[in-house]
Amino acid sequence: MATSADRIDHRRRFLTFLAGGPLLGLSVPAWLEAAAGAGEVPRGRLIAAPDEALNVFDFEAAARDKLPAAHFGYLATGVDDDATLRANREGFARFQIRPRRLVDVASVDTSVELFGTTWKSPIVLAPAGGQKAFHADGEIAVAKAAGARGHLQILATGATSSVEDVRAAHGGPIWFQLYPTDTWRITQALIKRAEGAGCPVLVLTVDLPAGRNTETERRFARADPRQCGSCHQPGLPGYVRRRPMFDGLDLTGVSLSSPRLTWDVVRRLRDATRMKLVLKGIETREDADLCVRHGVDGIIVSNHGGRAEESGRSTVECLPEVVDAVRGRMPVLVDGGFRRGTDVFKALALGAKAACIGRPYLWGLAAFGQPGVDRVLEILDREFQLMMRHAGVTSLARLDRTFVIADRRG
Ligand SMILES: Cc1cc2nc3c(=O)[nH]c(=O)nc-3n(C[C@H](O)[C@H](O)[C@H](O)COP(=O)(O)O)c2cc1C
Repeated sequence: MATSADRIDHRRRFLTFLAGGPLLGLSVPAWLEAAAGAGEVPRGRLIAAPDEALNVFDFEAAARDKLPAAHFGYLATGVDDDATLRANREGFARFQIRPRRLVDVASVDTSVELFGTTWKSPIVLAPAGGQKAFHADGEIAVAKAAGARGHLQILATGATSSVEDVRAAHGGPIWFQLYPTDTWRITQALIKRAEGAGCPVLVLTVDLPAGRNTETERRFARADPRQCGSCHQPGLPGYVRRRPMFDGLDLTGVSLSSPRLTWDVVRRLRDATRMKLVLKGIETREDADLCVRHGVDGIIVSNHGGRAEESGRSTVECLPEVVDAVRGRMPVLVDGGFRRGTDVFKALALGAKAACIGRPYLWGLAAFGQPGVDRVLEILDREFQLMMRHAGVTSLARLDRTFVIADRRG
């Protein structure tokens, strides 16, 4: 029987053959990229166990090998040409680090306080729906790994495990991400349930009010020979059947997204919950200023990992204008393309309190379940601590803009 390493080897040899033929001149990864319709092309080696990984990219290759094409497509996709997805990575190269020397870095403290809870690491697990599409243990495996390592986890409305179970598996106060639907009765039920489960913070995602064009996802789905309907029913009924947050709710006539997501909804939510309210998807100083004026408690600078609009702008480049507009009045977090400890270092130096990751921990989950997520977090924490030491920074409070410089050449 062919092992997965055999399969990869065959694929590689086949691609090498093609690259040497009609596509002469293109490297294999570039050809692969063209074949997949862009997206994030696995850069890592194929590994057989989490401890073989040298960096988080190794988990991407393993996830791609293990997942059915359609599920990998859902994980990998950006929108349109995936330009914003790529921009999120490229943005980090526009900032360089200014390390300081001759500082005693024998002890480095990476803990961060967010709304009264102290976390061991400033690396947060961003909300992602449908994690059982990546591994049977889904959000529970993620919660166990995150909780054990002292990382905050944000649970998605579209989670395939309940908020109560995930809270219990994590052991700490997870945050709940809300897509508010077009029906206030449903929105209310969702936030009451999150409150009841002990979530101290509600994260309202504001960057997807009007659908999106996920071409890479569709391309991968076409390459998947299986019939989706044999595992899950299409449409809303099939979707909510695997989404416990909607258990017991009458969704007749309800749309799970609404193009009428305005500051009125923010105001209404503000008044409807005692949870802190964080807006995810803010990218400009104008909207950051409106967050302050509407009594929002925190911001996540995000473009949904390049999965919302094709702005072409990286989140790390949006971050400084948001931080400047907020002027310390609320915590600013950021996500999008974080793959290295140095990425986290740059964002925190630019004023973010914490940096969230999406795909990296999902790659770990898809590849190896809980041990995969655990190893991804371990690698990123280690890389981040190493950068703190190199730069002579002993605590996050000491990390400021003097440690980065924007590249003026590009
Ligand atoms: C498969 C997948 C599902 C996602 N689902 C959600 C979601 O349900 N709600 C949400 O606010 N963001 C969602 N996101 C966006 C992430 O929260 C986060 O913004 C993004 O993944 C960060 O970029 P990165 O993947 O490059 O780290 C999802 C991202 C991925 C990759």
